Amino acid sequence: MKRVFSGVQPTGNIHIGNYLGALRQFVELQEENECIYCIVDLHSITVPQDPKELRKHILDVAALYLAIGIDPKKSIVFVQSDVSGHAELSWILTCNSYTGELSRMTQFKDKSKGKESAPTGLFTYPILMAADILLYDTDIVPVGNDQKQHIEICRDIAMRVNNKYKDTFVIPDGRFLKSGARIMSLDDPTSKMSKSAENIHSRISLLDEDSKIKKSIMRATTDSDGEIRFDPENKPGVSNLLSIYSAFSGESIDDIVAKYADCGYGDFKKDLVGITQEAVAPIKQNFNEIRESDELKAILRDGAEKANTIAEKTMKRVKDHFGLGF
Ligand code: TYM
Repeated sequence: MKRVFSGVQPTGNIHIGNYLGALRQFVELQEENECIYCIVDLHSITVPQDPKELRKHILDVAALYLAIGIDPKKSIVFVQSDVSGHAELSWILTCNSYTGELSRMTQFKDKSKGKESAPTGLFTYPILMAADILLYDTDIVPVGNDQKQHIEICRDIAMRVNNKYKDTFVIPDGRFLKSGARIMSLDDPTSKMSKSAENIHSRISLLDEDSKIKKSIMRATTDSDGEIRFDPENKPGVSNLLSIYSAFSGESIDDIVAKYADCGYGDFKKDLVGITQEAVAPIKQNFNEIRESDELKAILRDGAEKANTIAEKTMKRVKDHFGLGF
């Protein structure tokens, strides 16, 4: 049985990019693995958060985890700041990483672009993520393509520590899906769909009303040549919609392209609206029931306790290998 770990930041409404790239893997993996799913609130404060909103978003993500089918009887679900080992291990890893490797992270470069100075937490973000993963002796990390660099640096740091001290960490592997690993923004298909983009029509949230889903898809940027064809470089908008269609329906891109060979963008988009609405409808319904139940906080408390038991064991091993404490 393999150990699986992944996390989502509670920074806004979870969108179909998060779902198709990462979250739907979480559900599938819990059948045959020991899965740990975290709400990474410490990562979210690398940029300023309103405290009230943050609390709300933490519970929203927890409820969404359960609404998509994560079963707390099979998987551990908890909030990162409830287990102190994350911050503790993060410091130890900080002392075993280099400013040079952190400076190469594209996420840091993007977020600090044009600024004279950036929050230190943004810079050390990948180290905290490495701590999340290594704290649980993780084998597999299901994530979207945008996290590839972060998984790489986690592996590098873990190997460095293993070489310098006694074998301390399990070396994890990222798990990336063939379809859905990088869903692009609907209004600018050259950048990825994001929770924080200003235009709400750039994304579809898992909790969006049917009318909003319809509006966002029908106005999604395409092109003027009118041909439905998968060509991300020259036709990023249409290609992105094809990816979403394929990821939700399970049909191959080739089959979808053949099916719409004689159709215009309008017909294709209308069908995609239906497919998307149908896919998120049960999630929305489950979410509303779970979010209001008392059970949610009990599940998070229980999850934190179980996570902490594993984390404490790892921290004891790490401290022993480093000669920390007495
Ligand atoms: P976050 O909260 O930005 O995103 C959660 C997950 O969604 C994936 N994702 C996407 N997949 C496809 N298309 C997109 N447009 C898209 N946008 C986001 C992300 O790859 C991610 O898997 N650093 C992580 C959180 C984290 C973490 C961890 C993940 C912290 N510690 C340890 C795994 C293991 C992040 O920012 O996710």
